[in-house]
Amino acid sequence: MPDKEKKKGTNISRRSFLKGVGTGTVAATVAPSVLIGSEKTADAQQVGDAVESATIQLNINGEPYQVEVEARTTLLTVLRDGSDTSGNNVDLTGAKLICDRGECGGCTVMVDGKTVYACMMLAMDAQDKQITTVEGIADGDDLHPVQEAFIQHDALMCGFCTPGFIVSSTALLSENTKPTLEEIKVGLSGNTCRCGHLSVHLDAVKTASKKM
Ligand code: FES
Ligand code: FES
Repeated sequence: MPDKEKKKGTNISRRSFLKGVGTGTVAATVAPSVLIGSEKTADAQQVGDAVESATIQLNINGEPYQVEVEARTTLLTVLRDGSDTSGNNVDLTGAKLICDRGECGGCTVMVDGKTVYACMMLAMDAQDKQITTVEGIADGDDLHPVQEAFIQHDALMCGFCTPGFIVSSTALLSENTKPTLEEIKVGLSGNTCRCGHLSVHLDAVKTASKKM
């Protein structure tokens, strides 16, 4: 019987693939502005044969990548440590692995324009979607207004949180080019800065919004 959840780019179903994951893979609390990447994993154990790995295709920053992943592999792992089937490293290390549990926002990327914690999204669930990392925000050599504003405001201390803040700020301004301060705070509420630089980030987003 054909499985309706069968995914493009792979000859296995999401359901059978996820059976190898078990439960609780993505069960963490996140701040309101960032989506948890995967959903409905709890029913994955109910049917289908467990599959431990598969080759899938991901679209990252407009480029197709064929990668082999295990059932448990997160999108963040593919971005930072993955390699395509030709052996070339994906090597997109802008998204940071910090808490690895959906709390800090250091791994924030956009999936179909929405901010997502890449540490909380299974790579398989990112198939057929447009993934944008901080490396894909600039237009060639032209920085995005958010990136320019972060430089202008010297909006980083250690810089570990910076890629996540830039992605969240970009996602916010792409939906609302003139946000109020409260809207900026909500838009960045899924990201934390342990260097205490949040107020500078807010100023940078205000500056960037004037250029949008
Ligand atoms: S590393 Fe993903 S939210 Fe902290
Ligand atoms: S600049 Fe260091 S955590 Fe934000």
